Amino acid sequence: MKRVLVMDDEIEVGNFFRHLLEEKGFQVSIAVNKNDFTTLISELSFDLALIDLKLPDSNGIELLKLLKNSQPNCKAIIMTGYSTVKTAVEALKNGASDYIEKPFDDLDQLENTLDKHLSVETVSSQEETNQIASKLGFIIGANKEMNELAKLAEKIARKNINILIEGETGTGKEVLANFIHHASLRYNQPFIRINCGAIPETLLESELFGHEKGAFTGAVKLKKGIFEIADNGTLFLDEIGEASLGIQVQLLRVLETGEYYRVGGESVRKTNTRIIAATNRDLEKAVEEKTFREDLLYRLDVVKLNLPPLRKRKEDLELYLQYFLGKVNASHLSFSKESLEMMRTYEWPGNVRELFNIVKRAVALMDEDETTITPIYLPEKLAQNSGHQIQHHNEDDLESYLTGWTRNILSMWDRYKDIQLDDVLFSVKELEKQVGRSFVLKSLKNHVGDRKKTADSLKITTRQLKYLLNEKGKV
Ligand SMILES: Nc1ncnc2c1ncn2[C@@H]1O[C@H](COP(=O)(O)OP(=O)(O)OP(=O)(O)O)[C@@H](O)[C@H]1O
Ligand SMILES: [Mg+2]
Repeated sequence: MKRVLVMDDEIEVGNFFRHLLEEKGFQVSIAVNKNDFTTLISELSFDLALIDLKLPDSNGIELLKLLKNSQPNCKAIIMTGYSTVKTAVEALKNGASDYIEKPFDDLDQLENTLDKHLSVETVSSQEETNQIASKLGFIIGANKEMNELAKLAEKIARKNINILIEGETGTGKEVLANFIHHASLRYNQPFIRINCGAIPETLLESELFGHEKGAFTGAVKLKKGIFEIADNGTLFLDEIGEASLGIQVQLLRVLETGEYYRVGGESVRKTNTRIIAATNRDLEKAVEEKTFREDLLYRLDVVKLNLPPLRKRKEDLELYLQYFLGKVNASHLSFSKESLEMMRTYEWPGNVRELFNIVKRAVALMDEDETTITPIYLPEKLAQNSGHQIQHHNEDDLESYLTGWTRNILSMWDRYKDIQLDDVLFSVKELEKQVGRSFVLKSLKNHVGDRKKTADSLKITTRQLKYLLNEKGKV
């Protein structure tokens, strides 16, 4: 028989759960102070503990730690008042499986939560997290920080609280937001992303809140806003740090009240949209610099998830490489030992996106009869701090480079639905560099290595020549 421990200084709470759970065939023990609690956990082994967060002689987090130390397999649910949601999130980070809000008005929901944590589970919650994640193309890997982050993300996914995702460019903020949406109860509702830096302020109001027919010149018909369309879904506010102060005011208003008006509308509308915001800027610093509103940050940052840069999770490099090779239908290829070594020493300023781009580039450049990706297929920047020399294709290879490049672009063209324009443009920039370089190399050969003459004949400066040869920063 499963055993449940209820820790609350109000005995009524203990009695309430005893009544509720004994009927379902569970055995319930009640503690009303720290002393009871420690005695009980030293004597009996529990399957689930319900722990009140605010206690006269202790606090829930402290007791949670004691419990997890002596009975790591016992699940814990924290009980909290709404005003302490941030502390409840702290409890989740310390190993609690869930939290419930007091007073318990929604009994069905409460019972669902209890059933979920008391049911016999065939898969561990860790496996469950990994399953949802891999279905959505969100690789967690073995890195400890990423695992803690994914676990926390999964726990809070089902709560209706706002989330702020921080992380350098390309660390996977959008992938994570999408994962949270799909792990939430809103998974079959819309997930809408807007880039706060990209929408002009003048358009934003009607974009977010919609407008009535005739609200302004050009408003020929009624338009639903994002808050209306994503009503029971998730709104992903990307690059929130770029939002103008005017936009920040508008967002704050709807976050504070949950209410808004369509432009030109007279009746107040309610929204139940869940907000996930993302930024690669330090918002606390932006608050200090007065470019970001403190009250808005407070509303958004109920839970902060910080995605570590790729250079701090290099143990998972090979996993990502494998995954991305699969994504471009090139699972039959593998990276040589030397290539892997270079990748391990590289700092990855563009993070996971940069890694994906490098995979795509290498696959496009590879000759069809080769299966090992050697350093010649990697961009030169990878060699720079690894001490390796990449023997890059010379001007004679221009033709094969162009063929590979065209193949790559055309394959993006075919898969245009899951292609980001960024990746296309990155590829175009690479093309520019490679072509420029090939011409320089050819001319250099023609002038037997004389840089001055080469530059003169190409009508460029020697500085430009150095740049084109990718010798920027070298003496
Ligand atoms: N954990 C991951 N698993 C699988 N793919 C990932 C992961 N993280 C990032 N990626 C891939 O890397 C690329 C960039 O990810 P994403 O757009 O989520 O980054 P971002 O943090 O939002 O970047 P930015 O700040 O530049 O907008 C995408 O192609 C995405 O699929
Ligand atoms: Mg992004």
